[in-house]
Amino acid sequence: MKIDYYHFSVIDSTNTWAKTNASFFRKDRVTIVTAGHQTAGRGRQGRHWYSPPGQNLYATYCLFFPKTRADLINIPQVVVTAAAKILDLQIKWPNDLMKNNKKLGGILGETTLVDDTICSINGLGINVNMPPEDLSAIDRPATSLKIIEGYDLDIERVSTELQDAICNDLKLFIEQGFAPILPDFKAHLVHQLGDSVSFHYNNGIIEGSFHSINDDGTLNLILDDTVQRFHSGELHTA
Ligand code: BTN
Repeated sequence: MKIDYYHFSVIDSTNTWAKTNASFFRKDRVTIVTAGHQTAGRGRQGRHWYSPPGQNLYATYCLFFPKTRADLINIPQVVVTAAAKILDLQIKWPNDLMKNNKKLGGILGETTLVDDTICSINGLGINVNMPPEDLSAIDRPATSLKIIEGYDLDIERVSTELQDAICNDLKLFIEQGFAPILPDFKAHLVHQLGDSVSFHYNNGIIEGSFHSINDDGTLNLILDDTVQRFHSGELHTA
């Protein structure tokens, strides 16, 4: 796959920039937008993504699809699976990167229409060298690769390794869909059948247990003794 790169030492958000400029990207290529620092990094569910300078990885992967393609919702899961494989991490549904029940990365998947195509915009944030004192600024249990490994990592190198793995799996997805990725996605999940979970959905919290992942990447929970399918929401281990 041919790749176009844009790098910013400082930007508001690589996703926001990609969304604004998608109409200038080449439709036959993957465009990767990276930054050393984000002043307005965005997370899922409208959250802020803490993006201090020089410590972490902020990268947005953009690629175009025909409007008729129905499985674009799986692209963030393709990206998170590649990252989990290469960095030996776990996945919390739908696309959080975890280690020891603490989050260290995630994907913000967005789309924008360009002419008669959809541009899929997938922002990956990973805490690489963030020290414990900075992690305490995050409102949930968080970790970083530095804490896991016990030493500072070369962010450039992590970024390149990830890029190869992600582009490989994106190519597979373009050609064959989510099916060849699904086994690895499932193998890296933190959730096990029967795990108690609380599920944040439609401004409410539902208590239940984890059942399974469907072939289309959606989630099955057991709620009141019945299996129910969810396309979105946020899962917490109870
Ligand atoms: C999440 O909430 O888990 C998703 C976090 C995604 C953060 C990344 S950092 C690069 C890209 N630019 C952003 O503003 N957000 C994503």
